[in-house]
Amino acid sequence: MDNFQFYSPTEFLFGRDTEAQTGALVRKYGGTRVLIHYGGGSVIRSGLLDRVKASLDAEGIWYTELGGVKPNPRDTLIYEGIELCRREQVDFILSVGGGSCIDSSKGIAAGVTYDGDFWDLYSGKAVACNPLPIGTVLTIAAAGSEGSGASVVTQESTLLKRDTGSDSLRPKFSVLNPALTCTLPAYQTACGATDIMAHVFERYFTNTKEVEITDRLCEAVLLTMIKETPRVIADPDLYEARANIMWAGTVAHNDIVGVGRSQDWNSHGIEHELSGLYDCAHGAGLAVVMPAWMEFVMQHDVMRFAQAAVRIWGCEMNFENPEATAKEGICRFRRFLSGIGMPINFEQLGAKEEDIPVLVEKFGLGDGRTGGFVALSSEDVAAILRIAAHASV
Ligand code: NZQ
Ligand code: ZN
Repeated sequence: MDNFQFYSPTEFLFGRDTEAQTGALVRKYGGTRVLIHYGGGSVIRSGLLDRVKASLDAEGIWYTELGGVKPNPRDTLIYEGIELCRREQVDFILSVGGGSCIDSSKGIAAGVTYDGDFWDLYSGKAVACNPLPIGTVLTIAAAGSEGSGASVVTQESTLLKRDTGSDSLRPKFSVLNPALTCTLPAYQTACGATDIMAHVFERYFTNTKEVEITDRLCEAVLLTMIKETPRVIADPDLYEARANIMWAGTVAHNDIVGVGRSQDWNSHGIEHELSGLYDCAHGAGLAVVMPAWMEFVMQHDVMRFAQAAVRIWGCEMNFENPEATAKEGICRFRRFLSGIGMPINFEQLGAKEEDIPVLVEKFGLGDGRTGGFVALSSEDVAAILRIAAHASV
């Protein structure tokens, strides 16, 4: 196991009706003038926004609001948010919604205190320093942004989707009420589940040896997702299954299952180009990219893929031919994704094979290589996208 530092300072408040305590948590973390940031209206329709406002009113906390965050959040609304916060002297950002809303909130929080164009933080020119504190009330189990220091934003003018990361961007608190996720359409539930599983797989495929504890934690999260996702797709109101999925989403990405081991992250990098260009859901893009990535890199460590097949997908180990076991595991992953309603090839995603050179160009590797498990070149990325384009179950 590699040396590591694990820093996860977020306070998580989990369970039914916990959003009623949002105001008290904002007060606890020093918020006195709050920007409530939300998405396209689901929190208005569900009545959640009104309940959150009531909890701020109960604490006598002043607030203003900015809605309209789109999935794959754009830089344009962040500029608006930064201006609003400066004008109103906001000192706390409260995100009510999903990963897109949280990531937009992080962009605003970092941008307000940054002396320059906030996009510098996403283009790699600068790192977030001393952002405004943020808190979240989460409505979808997916991105894990409620516990992560990452934020992913799309620049409207170029359709480049880029991320930034800093421990200072980790939320002060996150309110997780699984019941809030019962209103999700099945497709969004499945996209979220795919993203959660992908966050674990990015960590599971590692070159670090003897990492039994994190291997087993990863497997626990994946087995939970394999069990619970079809249940909530069949019956959206199953609170206990929703609860298991919601906590899985947080632990999948706050890095507790990934510490002390190398991680890959090429599937995410490639996917971000798909959702940047086509505005598809991140989880849907991952369903197309990740099994293709697995097929492409499998030879790098057949035994690890065979281990995944046996421990996660319940395959029988073929000791004469471990490669066959490894392949069967990937096959079962793709079949699972298809079974929960995810696209598995370009046509189903709405992507075009002729765009592959554009996607590779946007990925921006040039002559370099990237990836913690297998370092990929631009040609490798193109090859993975070609596999993804034609995949079938
Ligand atoms: O906008 P509203 O009206 O709220 O509707 C949303 C949106 O249309 C809807 N929704 C959310 N909760 C709902 C609901 N509808 C009904 N009932 C509810 N309870 O779901 C749609 C998707 O929401 P979004 O916030 O986009 O989903 P998600 O949480 O999957 O976030 C995706 C974004 O997170 C980024 C992705 O790239 C993508 O941009 N990621 C962020 C990461 C991070 N910050 O650590 C890591 C991830 O790998 C990922 O890249
Ligand atoms: Zn993701």
